[in-house]
Amino acid sequence: MNYASQDLRDEHEVILHGLEILEEMADRLEDRQPVEIEDLEALVDFLKQFADRCHHGKEEGLYFASLEKAGIPRQNGPIGVMLAEHVEGRSYIARMTTALTDVYSPRDFATAARSYVELLRNHIGKENQVLFMMGDQRLPEDEQARLLTAFEAYEADVMGPDSHEKFHATIERLGKKYLS
Ligand SMILES: [Fe+2]
Ligand SMILES: [Fe+2]
Repeated sequence: MNYASQDLRDEHEVILHGLEILEEMADRLEDRQPVEIEDLEALVDFLKQFADRCHHGKEEGLYFASLEKAGIPRQNGPIGVMLAEHVEGRSYIARMTTALTDVYSPRDFATAARSYVELLRNHIGKENQVLFMMGDQRLPEDEQARLLTAFEAYEADVMGPDSHEKFHATIERLGKKYLS
């Protein structure tokens, strides 16, 4: 069976790579080493568009909705926790944006970046190891197929046809620059 969770797990790998780069950028900023502002902006744009709008958008609008229909509770359950963590992540992204746009503050950027990295690594771990396992067990084959088609349509309609390639290329470029 093709599991809808596989598409989300694949996106997690790209996001985790982005988090490694973000962590390295925070290290450098705290050591007062130069990091180009354009690169910080490109990484924040990746987090806003790829991680939040596309990936969290698919989870919130499509995958979690299917899980709820399959009987996994939102209130006082794992979906509610995941949704609250998406909201918390947005607050750190907003703080990173403010640190780049008002008065440039490398220190504030690095502090918010570290909070985001810690939150999202734990969040991805919980989805991969708990929530997606529940989804793999509970969603029948036709629902998995429907979700995969809906994910493709979401990417094309909401994100635009080439956006995934564009963000993969950004992360590859920044990874070569900051992690090698
Ligand atoms: Fe999530
Ligand atoms: Fe996720």
